[in-house]
Amino acid sequence: MTVHIETRDGIALVTIDNPPVNATGLAVRQGLCEAVARTEGDSAVRAVVLACAGRTFIAGADIREFGQPSKPPHLPDVLARIAGARKPWVAAIHGTALGGGLETALSCHYRIATPDAALGLPEVTLGLIPGAGGTVRLPRLIAADHALEMIASGASVPAQRAREMGLIDAITGGDLVSDALAFARAAADRPLPAPLDDRPPRPETAAGAFNAVAAKHTKRARGQRAPLAAIEALRNARTLPVPEALKAERALFQTLRDGVQSKALRHIFFAERAAGRVDRLEGIAPRPLGRVGVVGGGTMGAGIAAACLLAGLSVTMIERDAGAAEAGRARVAGILDGALKRGKLTPDARAARLAAFAARDTYEALADADLVIEAVFENLDVKHAVFAELDRVTRPDTVLASNTSYLDVAAIARATANPARVLGLHFFAPAHIMKLLEIVTPEGVDDSALATGVALAKRLGKIPVIAGVCDGFIANRIMSRYRREAEYMLEDGALPWEIDAAMESYGFPMGIFRMQDLSGLDISWAMRKRRAATRDPAERYVDIGDRLCEAGHFGQKTGRGYYLYGEDGRAQRSTETEALILAESARKGIARQPIPESEIMARLLAAMQDEGARILDEGIARRAADIDVVMVNAFGFPRWKGGPMFAGGA
Ligand code: 3HC
Ligand code: NAI
Repeated sequence: MTVHIETRDGIALVTIDNPPVNATGLAVRQGLCEAVARTEGDSAVRAVVLACAGRTFIAGADIREFGQPSKPPHLPDVLARIAGARKPWVAAIHGTALGGGLETALSCHYRIATPDAALGLPEVTLGLIPGAGGTVRLPRLIAADHALEMIASGASVPAQRAREMGLIDAITGGDLVSDALAFARAAADRPLPAPLDDRPPRPETAAGAFNAVAAKHTKRARGQRAPLAAIEALRNARTLPVPEALKAERALFQTLRDGVQSKALRHIFFAERAAGRVDRLEGIAPRPLGRVGVVGGGTMGAGIAAACLLAGLSVTMIERDAGAAEAGRARVAGILDGALKRGKLTPDARAARLAAFAARDTYEALADADLVIEAVFENLDVKHAVFAELDRVTRPDTVLASNTSYLDVAAIARATANPARVLGLHFFAPAHIMKLLEIVTPEGVDDSALATGVALAKRLGKIPVIAGVCDGFIANRIMSRYRREAEYMLEDGALPWEIDAAMESYGFPMGIFRMQDLSGLDISWAMRKRRAATRDPAERYVDIGDRLCEAGHFGQKTGRGYYLYGEDGRAQRSTETEALILAESARKGIARQPIPESEIMARLLAAMQDEGARILDEGIARRAADIDVVMVNAFGFPRWKGGPMFAGGA
């Protein structure tokens, strides 16, 4: 039974059991209607507790149903029945009450939650707004601006905050269901509270607070429709009678649900969850993951070490000498301090994480490591030397990984006696924040080594994407390709800020030239110099980046790059760069033609899609959706466009 009812001492306990997350699919909706009918009709029942089995309270509507015609009873109708019940309903919340789940709880007369529960209306993250009364009922329970913030941001609030805002009535100290039953028993002795629909909207916390939140989310929307629809729905909730506000909410929800942005966001939602599923690993256990070694304590090594520490792993970092080890240790401590400042870590937790960390200058310290991740200079000889050392000092079952950006992982593996235990774990900077982890799998890599890489990603809260071996794997290979297209456009007639503006108006947080200035132009310059000898002389080559570097302009860190940077770090158009670009076009005999914004973006997208198709043909990526996951999570491709392959109709 998906919805089970038992009566205990005059209180009906209605339990939803719909794994994995108790989504309100058809069977749940039918079961809830049945529960209302039975409890209303049973004179032995004085009150009702609504709880969920398994790991969580209802996590929302069943997203898989959104692509299909919806079948009655519809959730708003089910919730209207609960809201209209003549006996008090108490929602007993554990885990997460999200979307339709929180809307179900809002239709109950009371809400009680465990201390670690979280409540939210994340519909905007799926390109939607709440469609079962959330925009109308939430602002009748909590302040108007708080309701708008929750709905327009999609962020959840923890139980304690929910209690302070008035979203829940109590936090349990003990067993949730027993406490909820006791709460319901007491509620049955009191008059039934007025349903939310009969109450007026709550005022804002301060004059102008609602409009301030609305202005913030309008600015952040950058072309996304759902946050704007959320604002409209919440304005309706304050100005229209409840039935009309509910009708308007439903209409907005349905339009959004059928629109391309929501389809794109649902595509990414499922693609991210599918990315870590690897058929060949079915039934394969990962190796233990307790002690991690990191070789190299620079930008990436420190970020990787911090990510592992924050996930509760112990980490030993190896650097070239005592001074470099100390510098690496300081970098890691700095990242943990940042987490402390942002409230992500308590002082005690910071001390405990640092106690699980050691920085050393001898490889012997890795003798008991379960997994070692190398993040030294991007140079094959240096990496070979490191892997030969790792082969010497580690246990035979230790998994060895390289964080190389472009190099051949199979070639790196050959420095060891057993290449089957070597793979690529390609993190993105900053490694303790960025969600993506490319797992680069040379042919012949052992299944349990691969399973260990996937398990590490999950342990770190990252999204694993499996990639084959090639120059740049999935992410950097596609990026190199569209960056080249962008460079062609510089010579053909566009300027860096025009290309960046086109990307930003498409939805990227930052254009490619601004992004290169930020990460430093010297890195790709070094790569180009390394490849110069093997480059096809017939291939079109744009020298502009090299010219900037030759002039010492490495980007923001040197105050100049494609842009000019003032004291405040703001990027300004550079007349010097413009002159350099015009001179390069002239030198190559190219008659510059202005390139309209739409064509700029069309050319960049075509480059991404073409390279994506090649990557699929070559088996470097397993599915088009994996490429979308990479582009969204590595390079800020707008999620609500679904990734380049989705946008191209793949
Ligand atoms: N519908 C269908 N399937 C869902 C789902 C949903 N709402 N939420 C999660 N799932 C599935 C996932 O696809 C996954 O399936 P898989 O095992 O086959 O890959 C499984 O449940 C477990 O999900 P996660 O891997 O994400 O598990 P976590 O424990 O990491 O996270 C969660 C759990 C926090 C509930 C997370 O899954 C989540 O955020 N889900 C989406 C919540 C959401 O957006 N709800 C709003 C839906 S829209 C709505 O309610 C409209 C309403 O207003 C009418
Ligand atoms: P970095 O120059 O900041 O750090 C490299 C560190 O390795 C230095 O601290 C150096 O002292 C140390 N090192 C060099 N040889 C060593 C050896 N033999 N033993 C121990 N330590 C040694 O470089 P960064 O940026 O951290 O890059 C490291 C690797 O990560 C490279 O392969 C790079 O391609 C890759 N990468 C870099 C990204 C980035 O955005 N910086 C993103 C993803 C991967």
